[in-house]
Amino acid sequence: MNNSTRSSLRLALLGASGRMGREVLALLPGNSLFELSGAGCSSGSGLLNQPVDIIQPGLPALLFQADPAKVMQGAKVVIDFSLPGATQAHLSACREQGVAMVLCTTGHDASQLEHIRELSKSVPVLLAANTSLGIALLNRLVELAAGVLGEQFDTEIFEVHHRNKRDLPSGTALGLGRSVARGRGSNLDSLRQDRLPGSESLRGPGSVGFAALRGGDVAGEHSVMFAGEGERLELIHRVSKRATFAHGALKAAQWLAGQPPGLYEMSDVLGLK
Ligand SMILES: NC(=O)c1ccc[n+]([C@@H]2O[C@H](COP(=O)([O-])OP(=O)(O)OC[C@H]3O[C@@H](n4cnc5c(N)ncnc54)[C@H](OP(=O)(O)O)[C@@H]3O)[C@@H](O)[C@H]2O)c1
Repeated sequence: MNNSTRSSLRLALLGASGRMGREVLALLPGNSLFELSGAGCSSGSGLLNQPVDIIQPGLPALLFQADPAKVMQGAKVVIDFSLPGATQAHLSACREQGVAMVLCTTGHDASQLEHIRELSKSVPVLLAANTSLGIALLNRLVELAAGVLGEQFDTEIFEVHHRNKRDLPSGTALGLGRSVARGRGSNLDSLRQDRLPGSESLRGPGSVGFAALRGGDVAGEHSVMFAGEGERLELIHRVSKRATFAHGALKAAQWLAGQPPGLYEMSDVLGLK
């Protein structure tokens, strides 16, 4: 075993067979910072029990597995890019194995978010609906703008994603909404107004509107508009490559491995707090 292997971080990857999982796998061959120790897929996956190097040459001799406890065995940190239906089982396995989790899956409901908070009391958990640097910074800018402009500026959040994205509005859009609420000293639940067909057409005073489009292969676009009398401020972030999220997830994993139990976000990783 050489020095670089000895100091590598043992990393498990849940949702490894999916679009984002494959982006992470693509960054691992030749990367001495990480050693892949497990790769997860669903129990109905066509890749179940297949070697991971089928989709990415240069990876260790591992098979795709559906049991999250087996995927995490021996890992120091796990990155989860699966779907919210799998989160409960993944959290339980994390608790049993004492593995730190970078949870990149989006679309969690209130009860799942409560379980995530609960887990963070015993292991480090980083909840990241978006692992790009730009979104972490955008959240700070949005919080600042919302605080300065206040309720007099109508706030609308708009997002575009590829045709296969399931949750709507995106987890990132909701995170931006929470930043608006934080900037105004409020909470999103009392401000949120979704712009869906058939929903109320007049905006409520001080509300935060959400709208979304789905199509093509768009990796992710988010804009926040503050519209006042005679002026409008728009803050926009566009991702053109999914690899951007994968790089961010690996950076987060490296950072989280050294942290005590707690609930963290990307702004902690990037020192933006
Ligand atoms: N944090 C970020 O920056 C970021 C960026 C992009 C996307 N996301 C989020 O990441 C998640 C994955 O996105 P994606 O585009 O990669 O989706 P995807 O292509 O549909 O991949 C989903 C993955 O989860 C696995 N899976 C599905 N159901 C499962 C279950 N019950 N148990 C275990 N594994 C299961 C799938 O396995 P099989 O397909 O092999 O069955 C596949 O590996 C989504 O929630 C998305 O919103 C986050």
